[in-house]
Amino acid sequence: MAICELCLVQEKQPTQPGTDPGASSGAAPFREVTWESPSNIALVKYWGKHGLQLPRNPSLSLTLDQSRTRTTVRWRKGTGRMLDFKAGGEASADFAARVGNYLGKMQQELPLLADLDLAVETSNTFPHSSGIASSASGMSALALCLCSIAASAGELPEDGPLFRSKAGRVARLGSGSACRSLCGPWMTWGQTEAFDDSTDDYAIFVEDVAPEFQTLRDAILIVDASRKSISSTVGHAMMMDNPFAPARYENARRRMLEMAATLRNGDTALLVEIAEAEAMELHALMMTSVPSFILLKPATLSLIERVRGFRNRTSIPVCFTLDAGPNLHLLYPESAEEKVRALIADELQPFCAEGRVIYDQAGEGPTRIA
Ligand code: DP6
Repeated sequence: MAICELCLVQEKQPTQPGTDPGASSGAAPFREVTWESPSNIALVKYWGKHGLQLPRNPSLSLTLDQSRTRTTVRWRKGTGRMLDFKAGGEASADFAARVGNYLGKMQQELPLLADLDLAVETSNTFPHSSGIASSASGMSALALCLCSIAASAGELPEDGPLFRSKAGRVARLGSGSACRSLCGPWMTWGQTEAFDDSTDDYAIFVEDVAPEFQTLRDAILIVDASRKSISSTVGHAMMMDNPFAPARYENARRRMLEMAATLRNGDTALLVEIAEAEAMELHALMMTSVPSFILLKPATLSLIERVRGFRNRTSIPVCFTLDAGPNLHLLYPESAEEKVRALIADELQPFCAEGRVIYDQAGEGPTRIA
């Protein structure tokens, strides 16, 4: 199995007695583990699933560097309860319910969780409501914490292929795209002839990538940072009745083969073509779902026109992709940084909400925090 090096660092010491909420009641002391995990942006999209979060087609993504979630899980012997949950330093009932529900389900994957009480604290390095999907970074960070807890009890190795594949599976069960955040800069999830050892169960690291694609830049142009009207989970479900679904899955499978060759050969023109075709197809599927929905905004289309105009004028291989929202991810080589920053400042920023742009780039994956 293709697996990348993990930044393995020391586990934190158990919390000092004075700060342990259980200490005064005589409960077992808490231990804690912290992971920081990045978001990712798919170039070949996962859209449509079945069974236990299994993808209808393989997908491929670029792991980001700056857009990360840091999650700490504190645990002690108990009865499988979530004692506390904080997101960005605050209690969040919605989010707590989702995480609580997920932790309950994970007791089947990691049986030791049934005998532990947990407290979860999570925060994003990117601003809340920035339009960046936090489920990939958030669920992968949480999955890594849970697997580290299992490892500390001797139920998993501390690192290596087994740890990674289990963490990938646990992350996938939280959010499909989260399993692609466990390494970088390129990850693939879902069975495909394009990559040996690929599986629907978890994502694997793409080994053979040309140098120019290992340092790809991603400027995220924030058109609208408000919560999406339709969640990804609902969007996936609507693929069940989409008349174009069979053609879509076929296209994605074909593009995986093309992308594997593209990444290997450094074929920038083909990467541009596939990235934009996938973005447009994803949103076309939303528009042709029953009922139809549109997540693009007028400003998204204006940005697309300008990006294509710039590319035609300059032959600089800058292209866009989109996730399930209106914000444009502008992908470009490191060598074009200066010219693309000028394009953003001169032509693109006026279409962004409050001029917001997040500069990110290809990243290496999660880090365990000591
Ligand atoms: C359009 O992984 O967020 O970003 O599995 O229901 O949590 P769930 O969905 P999610 O879907 C991501 C959809 C996408 C494409 C992609 O990332 O591949």
